[in-house]
Amino acid sequence: MTPAPAPTEGAAGLAGGSRVPRHVAIIMDGNGRWAKQRGLPRGAGHRAGAEAVRRALQAAADNGVEVLTIYAFSSENWRRSDEEISDLTALMRFYLERELKTLEKERVKLKLIGDYSAFGPELVERLNRVVERTAGNTRLTLVIALNYGSRAEITGAARTLAAKAKAGEIEPSSIGEADIAAELQTAGLPELDLMIRTSGEVRLSNFLLWQAAYAELLFLDILWPDFDERAFSDALQAFAARNRRFGGR
Ligand code: IPE
Ligand code: IPE
Ligand code: MG
Repeated sequence: MTPAPAPTEGAAGLAGGSRVPRHVAIIMDGNGRWAKQRGLPRGAGHRAGAEAVRRALQAAADNGVEVLTIYAFSSENWRRSDEEISDLTALMRFYLERELKTLEKERVKLKLIGDYSAFGPELVERLNRVVERTAGNTRLTLVIALNYGSRAEITGAARTLAAKAKAGEIEPSSIGEADIAAELQTAGLPELDLMIRTSGEVRLSNFLLWQAAYAELLFLDILWPDFDERAFSDALQAFAARNRRFGGR
């Protein structure tokens, strides 16, 4: 057995002062229930959820987080009604249009994971344009997971490595964890430090399964549209109070 690689620490490291997570992921859940509580259609919950994305992005940037990865649409969300799916795509289009200025002003780089080609050429083109326009930004990376599924991602990595082995480019016995990580869509990003899920559900719903191996998990009862700067800084505080052992003592 090869020893496990040294774990990646947050920006300040375990011995450091502030212990800000470098990479935070959020499963933004509870838009539908938020709307239902108010007697509103689910679409209204998603619109309020988009405002919460804006606040989370600002809070991440202000607190010195390097990467914020948000789960916007899972590969299982196609099970929803056509109406809800078209509400969500319309909202993405609107959000991209409106937020491009903010991304530029706040020096945020946009990165996408998931098979977002499923959203059709028009949205794909808009998404790619924002990715290109923000590629040089370095303050924060916003990763949006669109039609993302972690098992599909890992399956894709397995396929690529199998093809390389078949072509004689690599030796199966030499495939290591780093080789798999390098084939995931999150390749090159810092290790995931903190995973937050709102709405009281306690599951990962096929999000970043490999990447979450040693992430701190935080499940909050708050519904996503109610998530604000305060909730974000409370989450960072909870993270800072955790004792990460990575298998050590
Ligand atoms: C999360 O809120 C947003 C997406 C999955 C796109 P939900 O729409 O899942 O809200 P609930 O879980 O029904 O309350
Ligand atoms: C997870 O939320 C997906 C996103 C937040 C995009 P869901 O609401 O789809 O998850 P389940 O169905 O409750 O597991
Ligand atoms: Mg949900």
